[in-house]
Amino acid sequence: SKAGYEHFMLKEIHEQPKGITDTLEKRLDEKGFIKLDDIRLTKEQLEDISKVYVVACGTAYHAGLVGRYAIEKFVKIPVEVEIASEFRYRDPFVDDKTLVIIVSQSGETLDTLAALRHAKKKGARILSITNVVGSSIARESDDVFYTWAGPEIAVASTKAYTTQIVSFYMIALYMALKLGRMDEKEYKRIIEEIKLTSGKVQQIIDQDSKLVEIAKAIMDRQHGFFLGRGLDYNTAMEGSLKMKEVSYIHTEAFAAGELKHGSIALIEEGTPVIGIASQENLFEKIVSNMKEVKARGAFVVAIAQEGNTEVEKVADMVFYIPKVDSLLASILTVVPLQLIAYHVAVLKGCDVDKPRNLAKSVTVE
Ligand code: F6R
Repeated sequence: SKAGYEHFMLKEIHEQPKGITDTLEKRLDEKGFIKLDDIRLTKEQLEDISKVYVVACGTAYHAGLVGRYAIEKFVKIPVEVEIASEFRYRDPFVDDKTLVIIVSQSGETLDTLAALRHAKKKGARILSITNVVGSSIARESDDVFYTWAGPEIAVASTKAYTTQIVSFYMIALYMALKLGRMDEKEYKRIIEEIKLTSGKVQQIIDQDSKLVEIAKAIMDRQHGFFLGRGLDYNTAMEGSLKMKEVSYIHTEAFAAGELKHGSIALIEEGTPVIGIASQENLFEKIVSNMKEVKARGAFVVAIAQEGNTEVEKVADMVFYIPKVDSLLASILTVVPLQLIAYHVAVLKGCDVDKPRNLAKSVTVE
């Protein structure tokens, strides 16, 4: 049931603080270490891994892009992220030293399942991140990490995404500690930071009325852009997908530095550009990219960390997320974008929970 919410999508956005807490805290032992009951990878097996592939579709693929960042940073193993429907036709180099991480909310996406089987045949070890216990992908994997998001009904994925990101951080922390590539203090610090993201997501949700105003300002446009750098580029991709699928506004995501290599030609008077500026080390850069589009007439909406008021000089509207370690900002930055897409869809009278042409689980190629 929708438990009093107008749509499942809104309900599921609101369930994210709980999803984050459940996925993390139920897996911490009394001493605060991550215990992963369904992952049997030994230290020796982990030492043997020379490469990781993350394979998924759609929103799960975007979570994988964040996962790459976490694994490369903490575990220091090279990671490639691929769209499942491309992976198996490319004949990727996969062997018994490859770990393939499959990400799928439903656990039934056909292309993703086929990629799993392809990699398995080549000898890879398969670890899946899924939300559905006993799904095909869970059953065919060597190791399973369940996102404890609860059932996701709305076609547009929201709480699955944030819990997938948390799952990646936990897997990366777990591996890094086991392999001795991260000291315990840093490990504990990051876990504490992840714990705090749940309350911070709630703080974002509590400011929803500001996001309604942003939605009203852009709802009549035919197209728009999302800009970000580093982890914020991944969020831009996910924000763009949400906007397209529920509100039918054509949006595109750009790595902000890439814009001037062609696509900036599309910016016209009033074109909405949502710039995500959560990464401290890239803050000045993204602000200057916002300036570039502003100078060409764009209507700029910025998503920034509290206190970084400098964005107000370049943005027409600003939404502040609570202060957060840049490393973990992806858990937060997506939430205002989910809500903006939701409100645009509602304002336009779209069928939010069942957008046209879409199915919840894609079991055809
Ligand atoms: C977008 C969305 C899709 C799914 C994709 C993969 O909101 O829901 O892009 O993320 O179809 O689905 P799963 O995760 O079930 O494999």
